[in-house]
Amino acid sequence: MAVLWGGRFTKETDDAVFAFNESLSFDRRLYKTDITGSLAHAEMLGKQGIISEKEASDIKEGLLSILKDIESGALEFDPKCEDIHSFVEANLIKRIGDAGKKLHTGRSRNDQVALDMKIYTRDEIDTIDSLLKELLNVLLKQMEKNTDTYMPAFTHLQKAQPTNLAHYLGAYAEMFLRDKDRLKDIRKRLNLSPLGAGALCGTTYNLDRDFVAEKLGFDTATFNSMDSVSDRDYLIETLSAISIIMMHLSRFSEEIIIWNSNEYRFVEIDDAYSTGSSIMPQKKNPDIAELVRGKTGRTYGDLISLLTTMKGLPLAYNKDMQEDKEVAFDSFDTVKDCLHLFAGMLDTITFNKDVMAVSAMKGFTNATDAADYLVKKGMPFRDAHSVIGKLVLTCIDKNCAIEDLSLDELKELSELFDEDVYDAISLKTCVERRMTKGAPGEIIDAIKHYKDLI
Ligand code: ARG
Repeated sequence: MAVLWGGRFTKETDDAVFAFNESLSFDRRLYKTDITGSLAHAEMLGKQGIISEKEASDIKEGLLSILKDIESGALEFDPKCEDIHSFVEANLIKRIGDAGKKLHTGRSRNDQVALDMKIYTRDEIDTIDSLLKELLNVLLKQMEKNTDTYMPAFTHLQKAQPTNLAHYLGAYAEMFLRDKDRLKDIRKRLNLSPLGAGALCGTTYNLDRDFVAEKLGFDTATFNSMDSVSDRDYLIETLSAISIIMMHLSRFSEEIIIWNSNEYRFVEIDDAYSTGSSIMPQKKNPDIAELVRGKTGRTYGDLISLLTTMKGLPLAYNKDMQEDKEVAFDSFDTVKDCLHLFAGMLDTITFNKDVMAVSAMKGFTNATDAADYLVKKGMPFRDAHSVIGKLVLTCIDKNCAIEDLSLDELKELSELFDEDVYDAISLKTCVERRMTKGAPGEIIDAIKHYKDLI
């Protein structure tokens, strides 16, 4: 066992205690950010004269060689080290000797781990943001191809009014654009460097915290050292934003699963994104969509887990906070996989335009428009609603659509009906004349607007 704090102890840590306490098995993925942070810290120590320039450059060389060796596989993580910080420091001392022992001057693992997690999370936010962009580009492409693909829109999962597929998909574009915005907001709020907060109350060394902050791409150093080492708000916010992204993907997946069902047949998922059954040869299952929907649950779990970990913690650092890592990493990995696979599935899906249009024509999706027709001819809306209600009953009886009735049959319910009713309630009119801002008839403008935002 190699620990950084052996001096005060007269006994070796119990094996089970070491195994329970260690974090190298999962925080090893912070190796690059840890080294990046240490490089900035060492440079600052040299610049401030806290260590010599020679020591600073030896440390730099040593750290860079560790990074290179980890990446090439020449250096393996040593399970005897407690965490990634101990591992890098122990290796540095092995490589450069006494100068390596000075790296931790004016620093604690508390501000070090706070820094590492912030840099790591910031990078993950950037990756998730570009995956959202990739998905939005696929969505926009599908929208442009489907501005005149008519389909029913639903409330209560019952056919309500007709729309076009581009308008339907546009609702998801709105969600993913809000997700991007949320990430941008979180990134801005997290971008203060905690390094130099020390264990919790700063240090008597003449550190230049803002120099380190700037080197590492932060806007400034933090303003309270206790908060710096105990703040995990940015992680909770990020897990929350990820949960919302997953909720959006899950709703979208649910639509695809329904649309892919034998009863709907609105879509055909590409063979590359479907799986079969081991027993039923006819099956082609929407497993990707189902897994995305299923994995949403674990990201909610990660968020609730971290919120619960933090709720009882007094200031400042407490070891409970080591529990932030596995849940954060799990959510980062999950959302990245899901965004990528979902974009691929959406890019290759086939929309059965004819089936969608036929479905839109059945189920009285033009009933509102028929009522509006009578209103435009002078009937109060409430009366028109009642007339069309009766008309729908007649159609159900005759097993036909409103437009299948002859003008005489329509006139039996209202004298206001005329030959122009058929055009007024046609699918094309119902969709394309809905020209209020945000409605399907305005979809071309909306697409232009989304393109500017991505
Ligand atoms: N592995 C620890 C964590 O992830 C690093 C910080 C350790 N600090 C301490 N005071 N024991 O939180």
